[in-house]
Amino acid sequence: PRRVRVHHLRQSKERGEPLTMLTAYDAVTARIFDEAGIDMLLVGDSMGDNMLAHPTTIPVTVDEMIPAVRAVSRSSRRAMVIADLPFGSYEASPAQCHASAVRMLKEGGAHAVKFEGGAHLAEHVQLLTRSGIPVVGHLGFTPQSENMLGGKRVQGRGAEAADQLVADALALAEAGAIAVVLEMVPAPVAARVTEVLDVPTIGIGAGPDCDGQVLVWTDMAGMTGWSPRFAKRFGEVGAELFAATRNYARAVREGTFPAAEHSYEK
Ligand code: KIV
Ligand code: NA
Repeated sequence: PRRVRVHHLRQSKERGEPLTMLTAYDAVTARIFDEAGIDMLLVGDSMGDNMLAHPTTIPVTVDEMIPAVRAVSRSSRRAMVIADLPFGSYEASPAQCHASAVRMLKEGGAHAVKFEGGAHLAEHVQLLTRSGIPVVGHLGFTPQSENMLGGKRVQGRGAEAADQLVADALALAEAGAIAVVLEMVPAPVAARVTEVLDVPTIGIGAGPDCDGQVLVWTDMAGMTGWSPRFAKRFGEVGAELFAATRNYARAVREGTFPAAEHSYEK
């Protein structure tokens, strides 16, 4: 299959073909999502709370992300692999951002990076873009700033906040961003951003009018006990895995596994 590339994203937007993005953090899931035709695999810093049992994304480091990025990029043939830059690895300067992004491409094999923030990071986006590193923006609720934002709250409510969100999205796009993730934004505001941007918006809790959608895979597949309102469970994989595990343990305890067909006679 042909690899999804930067120009395909814009093409999809122009044609009105919705883009699909899912998080992935390992080879097992990346292979499945890639074969299922997901356009973009995001190695999100949501790995922190979903895979590494951190309370938030804040403690995640570039060193923790790299093996996950490598596993996902090695296990996918079609999807564009996007690596999140974790908290503290890019904010201080364009140079710091560039250094972290370079590691994601050189050591991780990512095709693009994503980081959180608006117009104040336009220079970061510009430097990476000029250096050949595609950048995806992330606006609205930005989990790395939850201590400033006062928890997980919808962003861009009210005329002033909505205008600010549109201005931030435009600044990122003008600086070269190839797409912008919108998280927990009122649907009409996300629709407005989608209308003014030439590059795709990818929504999560941002309504139906974005150019694409993203979910954290463990939410999407029903691996978690709780998922946020915006995260529809498209399966109950956690329950299925639990059942398989119970069946295995019972078979071992009852002596029905391994049977003859699982054994070598000589
Ligand atoms: O880390 C992540 O999973 C993300 C998505 C929610 C967009 O940034
Ligand atoms: Na993230």
